[in-house]
Amino acid sequence: MVRILKIGGSILTDKSRPQSPRQEEIDRIAGEIASASADLVLVHGAGSYGHMPARKFGLPQNFDREGLLQTHQSVKLLNDLVVQALVRQGLFPLPVHPLSSALLRDGRIERMDVTIIKEMVTRGIIPVLHGDVAIDSSKGAGIVSGDQLVSYLARVLKADNVSLGTDVDGVLCGQVCLKTIDRGDLPRMEEFIGGSNGVDVTGGMRGKLMELMDLADQGTPSQIFNASREGLVKRALAGEQVGTLVRRRA
Ligand SMILES: Nc1ncnc2c1ncn2[C@@H]1O[C@H](COP(=O)(O)OP(=O)(O)O)[C@@H](O)[C@H]1O
Ligand SMILES: [Mg+2]
Repeated sequence: MVRILKIGGSILTDKSRPQSPRQEEIDRIAGEIASASADLVLVHGAGSYGHMPARKFGLPQNFDREGLLQTHQSVKLLNDLVVQALVRQGLFPLPVHPLSSALLRDGRIERMDVTIIKEMVTRGIIPVLHGDVAIDSSKGAGIVSGDQLVSYLARVLKADNVSLGTDVDGVLCGQVCLKTIDRGDLPRMEEFIGGSNGVDVTGGMRGKLMELMDLADQGTPSQIFNASREGLVKRALAGEQVGTLVRRRA
């Protein structure tokens, strides 16, 4: 059994200001993770640590070596804050940087060494991955979002609990939060699904849903829930549905 939890950069950082962590949220979420930390792979978004430098250097459209360096160094700072918060809970996390373990082609993960991640989980370690810059064999520079990592890892690791915490209750259709969504709902939802409120170069809710629909098509459902609501990370990890379930078309 493997669980994959993603916490969005919208929760961990103030997406409107560069390199601004929400330390209280990071600590609270680390505490909730401590309640169910076995067999867990944690992915976090890059928030303002990633999207802002990436945009400044025109990544990923521009191959910019300085931009790759600065963006990676920046997201590593947030990764370290998350790792340290887990350590304070008595857990054993280890950072796994996608830049050093994944190769993209046309913006999609072409290959990634997940054996390391599997071995860590077997040994009681929580691998902590994050949205990152990456090398793209066709374009030079790429960005791998936390959402793409979740979809890739959930498929390869055959995860049986996939939860994505963000700053809204789930997939909203106007004021209503959907219980479930599948590909068949997309046409009528089209006008409601947009990008991000903050600076987000990986597509906000639209990007997230594209990743999760692909995953659902391959047989793995997932849920999008509000990680800013206290207790929901813990309940999601326990297998409860606390947001919108993204599932395969019936
Ligand atoms: N239909 C929708 N339902 C929910 N959120 C939406 C929708 N359309 C656009 N969004 C935006 O997507 C955001 C979540 O995506 P994002 O900012 O990328 O979060 P994260 O940092 O968790 O990846 C929400 O805060 C909201 O502003
Ligand atoms: Mg996002």
